[in-house]
Amino acid sequence: ARFPSAPHSRPMLSLQNSYDLEEVRAFDTRMRRELDVANVVYTVEPKMDGVALALRYRDGRLDAALTRGDGQRGDVITRNARTIASVPDRLAAGWERVFPGPVRAFEARGEAYLPLSWFAKLNAAREEEGLDPLANPRNATAGTLKTLDAEEVRRRRLAAVFYQLFPLDPPAPELPSHRAELAALAQLGLPVNPILLVAGDLAEVEAHLDDLAARRHELDYQTDGAVIKVDDGEWQRRLGATAKAPRGALAYKFAAEEAVTVLE
Ligand code: IVH
Repeated sequence: ARFPSAPHSRPMLSLQNSYDLEEVRAFDTRMRRELDVANVVYTVEPKMDGVALALRYRDGRLDAALTRGDGQRGDVITRNARTIASVPDRLAAGWERVFPGPVRAFEARGEAYLPLSWFAKLNAAREEEGLDPLANPRNATAGTLKTLDAEEVRRRRLAAVFYQLFPLDPPAPELPSHRAELAALAQLGLPVNPILLVAGDLAEVEAHLDDLAARRHELDYQTDGAVIKVDDGEWQRRLGATAKAPRGALAYKFAAEEAVTVLE
């Protein structure tokens, strides 16, 4: 048995990657040139190493949940998504007021993940039962979302955070900025990452990247970098996207850490 697949409301794209500050500087130069502005406000947030998830709500109720699939079509895993404790099945009255215009249906996109603390406990329990350990949180999350037994999925206690929100029906105005988008998601009762840094210029972006790299091990989820986004929604739309990724966002991969062995 398998999950049915369905088309995405709009493609689920990837992100442009960068691996050093030179590439981040080139991105900022490109943004300022393409937008023809002296300065751009960016948001900087952790890049969650989870599994992409799209939720559709209609009339205040969770209507469908899709995995990324090939980016054009995803697997419909609605029953499994309903088992994620932080994903509301019904939104609180007044949810419509979060949008600038009248909206009956919208989509929220983000990542499902296994908190590291819980992943460690799951593996300890598996060991006691003589089961093979789960290789890593990301694969365990992907495997869990594709499990056919929803009660088994519930026991895995997945978490999720959301970072994208757009109206589906009727096609209404979008949120004016990424900050507004995250605030609206939180108002809808969807979980968002509490870490959101705002940078007024390139120097602040660089400082935030350092900050996130230093804090990455304090987080209860796996992260392999940061995502830098042009905050202004109108500018994002003007920048558009390639076939693969939006032009107004950049993933910055942290340098892989080398394990050090001390011989005594
Ligand atoms: S924004 C068009 N923000 O990383 C995609 N993505 O490698 C816009 N991801 O496809 C996504 N953390 O699944 C965004 N804070 C974050 C993210 C994030 C993880 C994922 C997302 C994306 C993939 C690209």
